Amino acid sequence: MHTVLVEAPGGHYPIHIGSGCLDALADSIPADATSLALVTNVTVDALYGERVRDLLAAAGKPLVTIALPDGEAHKSWDSLNQVFDALLARGHDRKTVLVALGGGVVGDLAGFAAACYQRGVRFVQVPTTLLAQVDSSVGGKTAINHPRGKNMIGAFHQPQAVVIDPDVLQTLPAREVSAGLAEVIKHGMIADAAFFDWCEAHVTGLRALDAALISQAIRRSCEIKAAVVSQDEREAGVRAHLNFGHTFGHAIEAGLGYGQWLHGEAVGCGMVLAAGLSARVCGLDAAAVARIQALVQAIGCPTRAPALGAGRWLELMRVDKKSRGGKIHYVLLPRLGAAQVHEVEDAVVAALLLQSGA
Ligand code: NAD
Ligand code: GLY
Repeated sequence: MHTVLVEAPGGHYPIHIGSGCLDALADSIPADATSLALVTNVTVDALYGERVRDLLAAAGKPLVTIALPDGEAHKSWDSLNQVFDALLARGHDRKTVLVALGGGVVGDLAGFAAACYQRGVRFVQVPTTLLAQVDSSVGGKTAINHPRGKNMIGAFHQPQAVVIDPDVLQTLPAREVSAGLAEVIKHGMIADAAFFDWCEAHVTGLRALDAALISQAIRRSCEIKAAVVSQDEREAGVRAHLNFGHTFGHAIEAGLGYGQWLHGEAVGCGMVLAAGLSARVCGLDAAAVARIQALVQAIGCPTRAPALGAGRWLELMRVDKKSRGGKIHYVLLPRLGAAQVHEVEDAVVAALLLQSGA
């Protein structure tokens, strides 16, 4: 097992990564917890609920399971209320600990529930998708969606621990593996050109979930993300770089309706658009743009942007949390392995979207 540390002002905590590390889950439960709530969804509950309940029994705390409906469309007020209803009905107090078992939807929602319940209780992340293992379970961004914008209602709330067992990925559909790889290659694009090269070289093995390769990809992604979050927890600066491709990606998700494209697919396609914009705005060379497009395609994500029309794209992107005074800010790459934030004129973005058939 390998441990990466996050050292953010809002919390210092370990990310445990390794085959079989789920078996030690009870060790990550604080000793003074009065009760536990396993927050998951119906799909993951059917796959891993029983095993995780057995493992948590070792912590010796009363446990309730809250199994939410599956899907991005349920990252909503209704699901959040379902968690609060269950906690209140069973008298969970401020020393309760939530355990988020699932992908990014469950992790973001359970984390937000933990941030709000009785003004804040502790939670542990047990991510079960590749995307959640390399990105969403780390860093304390928690949220639900609003019909007008992705992740618009939320809070920063760091977990007590993140327990990442790559073995659970064996049941993950191939499309979800591709979506998770989008966030893996993003880390190379924004922060580590050598890691981008490594992803290019090992893309077939990564898609096949080769044990050694996928563990290495998770570990490097967590190292990069932990370093960024430790430096800039509240996204005053460098943390925005983690949103490379997300301004376009969130517009795809909201514009097509949550759940039509997977989050990682939208980010993958968004990174291709952001690479094209980087070439126009800050000099990313054509070879790098081509490599980014080729790698997004090679991991199995779409590279052709949906035809929403430039006006609608811009309307959706103006809701982005990086927008200031109605001006949209984009994370762009001057070269592979480095990122910058730029305010870009709508006309420049519209020209790119037009050229891309979007
Ligand atoms: P998801 O949570 O919807 O999970 C994808 C699907 O896989 C679901 O159907 C789920 O039930 C299923 N699943 C989960 N684990 C499984 C397993 N081991 N075997 C089989 N099926 C399994 O989607 P996701 O891609 O994990 O997360 C996307 C969400 O994460 C988005 O809402 C996005 O906004 C959020 N996100 C948050 C952050 C952050 O920093 N907080 C970062 C990136 C993404
Ligand atoms: N996924 C973007 C962030 O955590 O900041």
